[in-house]
Amino acid sequence: MTEPTKSITFTLNGSECTRTVPVRTLLSDFLRHDEDLTGTHVGCEQGVCGACTILVDGTPVRSCLMLAVQADGATVETVESLAEAGELSCFQKAMKDEHGLQCGFCTPGILMSVTAAQRCGRTVEDTETEVLGGHVCRCTGYTGIRSAIRKTWTEASE
Ligand code: FES
Ligand code: FES
Repeated sequence: MTEPTKSITFTLNGSECTRTVPVRTLLSDFLRHDEDLTGTHVGCEQGVCGACTILVDGTPVRSCLMLAVQADGATVETVESLAEAGELSCFQKAMKDEHGLQCGFCTPGILMSVTAAQRCGRTVEDTETEVLGGHVCRCTGYTGIRSAIRKTWTEASE
């Protein structure tokens, strides 16, 4: 039996898209395989590790737990949208400067969660608790990531 499909229209990294997708396709798979946006990583596929985090209408979402059809009408942002005209965002620069990554597998999800926290004016303490609690990093011990968050918040307040 052929899997049913649905036409969806949404904004992806600033551009309006209309696509026809199988109704059971996960948003993470759609982004990676159909849109070639492989910066969204997939680890556990169970909503635990945070690697697949993207922003949907500005809110961090585990894209492995969302169907592509649920993005209909929404604004979706992936890690590919963060650097503007090749210029890294403040937190991207801080992660680089503070050695906030090693293998980089967890990094795109962390970048998206911290970006959302910054935009909505979270405190540095809340950001550390929420963001680091929601993302599994097997490499860094979180030290460099925490330094990068602190550097970003300090620079924003100067
Ligand atoms: S792959 Fe989605 S939370 Fe781990
Ligand atoms: S840098 Fe390797 S998992 Fe975080």
